[in-house]
Amino acid sequence: MDKMTKCPIVKEIGEITSNMHRLGWNERNGGNISVLVDESEIRPFVNTKKIIRDLPLAVPFPEFAGKYFIVTGTGKYFKNIKKKPAENLGLIRIADDGSCAHLIWGYTAGGSYTSEIIMHLGAHKQRLAIDPNHRVVMHAHPVNILSMTHVFPWDEKKLTKELWSTCTECIVIFPDGVSLLPWMVSSGPEIGLASAEKFKDFRILVWALHGCTVTGTNLDEAFGLLETVEKGAEIYMKIRSGGERHSIEDDMLKAIADDFNLTPREGWL
Ligand code: 13P
Ligand code: ZN
Repeated sequence: MDKMTKCPIVKEIGEITSNMHRLGWNERNGGNISVLVDESEIRPFVNTKKIIRDLPLAVPFPEFAGKYFIVTGTGKYFKNIKKKPAENLGLIRIADDGSCAHLIWGYTAGGSYTSEIIMHLGAHKQRLAIDPNHRVVMHAHPVNILSMTHVFPWDEKKLTKELWSTCTECIVIFPDGVSLLPWMVSSGPEIGLASAEKFKDFRILVWALHGCTVTGTNLDEAFGLLETVEKGAEIYMKIRSGGERHSIEDDMLKAIADDFNLTPREGWL
């Protein structure tokens, strides 16, 4: 019996990734999650002394020496995490010199953590410098925010203001705005380090023509942030995409009323 399947944070990751898949944010292996966990959260469920194998890191992270993260596996499908957590997730401890990660649990069918690991660790580093309660980095491919980058300028201030203007709650949920990186090849140290720079100042990063990454103090908070950004983008795509807005103007309404011999409410046209 794998006790880790009973670990509350593993169960929570299973629930949230199922939801993300159901919402269409994480097709196939799209997206990845990492959660910084305290040793006390996992010690009752796994032998932390036993190292299964070492996983390479293209960029060393000595500041995380001895720290534990649960990370989705590269090529793994969000839809399968709840059913088979040990195959699709890994628990890692960063080595003492930060040069690699020790696999403590998971990736039972082989493989390694997400190809976006440098973006994840870089984002954790920058967000922890701002907020000691920070824990979660969540990357997904929600269709509306991704679509918006096809039809909207790649300008983070303009994008933020457009999203704020879509629904009243947006500015309440992300007053700190949305950052954006122009299109880059993904899954490597270059985009990882460029992304980490953005997280010095933002909790939300949009990758043009790719997706969105958010951070938070827990899974719910990160999920809620992404949900709100995606809602704003959905409204934009429904009402404003396409550059030009066409509307039935007053003179046209009057023409319809004349044609149908109607009297629209007095003074409203
Ligand atoms: P991984 O399967 O390596 O996590 O990659 C998915 C992804 O979304 C890349 O940006
Ligand atoms: Zn992606």
